[in-house]
Amino acid sequence: MELLWVKGSGGDLATLTPAGLAALRLDRLRALASVYPGVDREDEMVAGFDYCLHGKEGAAPSIDTAMHGLVGAAHVDHLHPDSGIAIATAVDGEALTKKIFGDTVVWVPWRRPGFQLGLDIAAMKDANPQAIGCILGGHGITAWGDSSAECEGNSLHIIEAAAAYIAGHSRPEPFGPVLDRYAALPDQERRAKAAALAPTLRAIASHDKPMVGHYTDAEAVLDFLAHAEHPRLAKLGTSCPDHFLRTKVKPLVLDLPATASVEDAIARLTELHSAYRAEYQAYYDRNATRDSPAIRGADPLIILVPGVGMFSYGKDKQTARVAGEFYVNAINVMRGAEGLSTYAPIDESEKFRIEYWALEEAKLQRMPKPKPLATRIALVTGAASGIGKAIATRLAAEGACVVVADLDPDKAAAAAAEIGGTDVAVGLAADVTDEAAVRAAVDTTVLTFGGLDLVVNNAGLSLSKPLLETTVADWDLQHNVMAKGSFIVSKAAARVLIEQKLGGDIVYISSKNSIFAGPSNIAYSAAKADQAHQVRLLAAELGEHGVRVNGINPDGVVRGSGIFAGGWGAKRAAVYGVPEEELGAHYAKRTLLKREVLPEHVANAVFALCSADLSHTTGLHIPVDAGVTAAFLR
Ligand SMILES: NC(=O)c1ccc[n+]([C@@H]2O[C@H](COP(=O)([O-])OP(=O)(O)OC[C@H]3O[C@@H](n4cnc5c(N)ncnc54)[C@H](O)[C@@H]3O)[C@@H](O)[C@H]2O)c1
Ligand SMILES: [Zn+2]
Repeated sequence: MELLWVKGSGGDLATLTPAGLAALRLDRLRALASVYPGVDREDEMVAGFDYCLHGKEGAAPSIDTAMHGLVGAAHVDHLHPDSGIAIATAVDGEALTKKIFGDTVVWVPWRRPGFQLGLDIAAMKDANPQAIGCILGGHGITAWGDSSAECEGNSLHIIEAAAAYIAGHSRPEPFGPVLDRYAALPDQERRAKAAALAPTLRAIASHDKPMVGHYTDAEAVLDFLAHAEHPRLAKLGTSCPDHFLRTKVKPLVLDLPATASVEDAIARLTELHSAYRAEYQAYYDRNATRDSPAIRGADPLIILVPGVGMFSYGKDKQTARVAGEFYVNAINVMRGAEGLSTYAPIDESEKFRIEYWALEEAKLQRMPKPKPLATRIALVTGAASGIGKAIATRLAAEGACVVVADLDPDKAAAAAAEIGGTDVAVGLAADVTDEAAVRAAVDTTVLTFGGLDLVVNNAGLSLSKPLLETTVADWDLQHNVMAKGSFIVSKAAARVLIEQKLGGDIVYISSKNSIFAGPSNIAYSAAKADQAHQVRLLAAELGEHGVRVNGINPDGVVRGSGIFAGGWGAKRAAVYGVPEEELGAHYAKRTLLKREVLPEHVANAVFALCSADLSHTTGLHIPVDAGVTAAFLR
């Protein structure tokens, strides 16, 4: 019995595992052709794949299964290489295919992927036994071979021959002449302008639903935007069906030069956003039929800013990043096609049929429910250690993108790497007492993940001394890091939160000591009381922007805490006459619940404060101290 192994629907090759493949009996799959009711009902064939499945394991078969199974070859590759799509989207693609490949690679006119396209390619191959593959009009390439190596070799041949032909025959300026004042801004200015625009751009992309962002100033993007034809080409939109589902039909392009001020750019972007939404709605209305799925939101997923670069958006960082990568592919495709002839993507009605295809909608419906903090971007200060690290870990586990900020860049990066890959967590150095460093950290956050939603003021340190031994330096250090540091971080973050118009959360890790007058603790406890009052003040001030400001009062978190490990724990243990490793248990005995407080318990409270369940709570402190009567809030 012959089996077909094909990629699962919605899967991606870079992360493919055996479970991501579907296995089908080839004899049954090919027999489906005998009951095929015709192109108008080709979608019904997908249900037939279930009767071809071999075994119970494996993924739902890809929409392209028919192409891989019906073509009479042991191995079939289907790819979307830039050079291949450039030929596929050139207005004279068929003639170019003949010129480049003779009769070894055959042109197959555009057709939406599905059963009929599989039959078309199979018939073409039977009629052209010398062919090693085909150019799929408006779409990509398919190649075949008797072995995996032969098939791969044929794919590479098509890709390389098309690329070599483009390189050898392209006009010198495929995107037209250079535009005055549209050249890339110098590095620092470009980054600064990107960071200044990012909150507004995220607001634009997130009008219908919140999005995570990705920024790139890749050479290909800046070059495209610096040349005269970019507005016309961007309007034509992308073509490859597998790409524009992630990029939407077309991007939003800022029609101002690189030299425009941030204020002018923001004002114009706001106008362009309204126009984009109206146009997208009109596109939907023009093309939707009675059975079309509902409109999925009218905001752009790709925003292009001359001189600055590209912002792409998605439901998570990976989706946003891949959308950006696909648009870079689209730029390469347009350069290739325009270099040889004229770029001519598939018709709008065909784009709509793909975008709102019932099978694609089913794929979306199959997606797991998003995690509670999905699309939220968090910045946690002092997150390389102890409580901060536990908070960053928990927020990431609940679906947030997390920036781990701390004094030491290596420790911050190591903590981030423990939490996840760079689509989930990144580490950076930021001394919260340094306003410029904090601004830079917020800039990096918005350029890395597109914005900022959730700020945790956790950085801190403790020097417990009686009044007469407390130096002004002790006082200043603790007030600088905790009181002033939180103020600086909240201020830098609030600018982004307000511009984004998506609300947000600021959480302060205060302390039981912010209200409890413990012994020998004047500087630390006064700094904590300062932080605690910032919570109330900012809750009052930022409420109108939908920003909630709350705090946590932890106590006695010994395990994992750098504060306790740094000698303080030993001193406290000596004071209480217990071995240092029993200090946590000793603190537990003093509590009402007789439980030891761990960093994770503080992290749980941060999550609870930021979750939808406490959406109507601001200005609150939650004690996480296992119950300390003296620290009751009222
Ligand atoms: N451990 C407890 O029992 C306890 C109780 C109440 C409140 N807290 C508070 O919780 C927070 C975290 O404490 P922890 O116990 O996890 O301590 P920790 O020492 O393990 O972590 C604090 C982190 O803050 C960082 N940091 C210090 N100064 C900084 C600065 N200027 N800029 C940026 N980062 C800086 C440190 O490098 C460290 O990684 C602190 O604000 C602390 O006051 C702790
Ligand atoms: Zn495809």
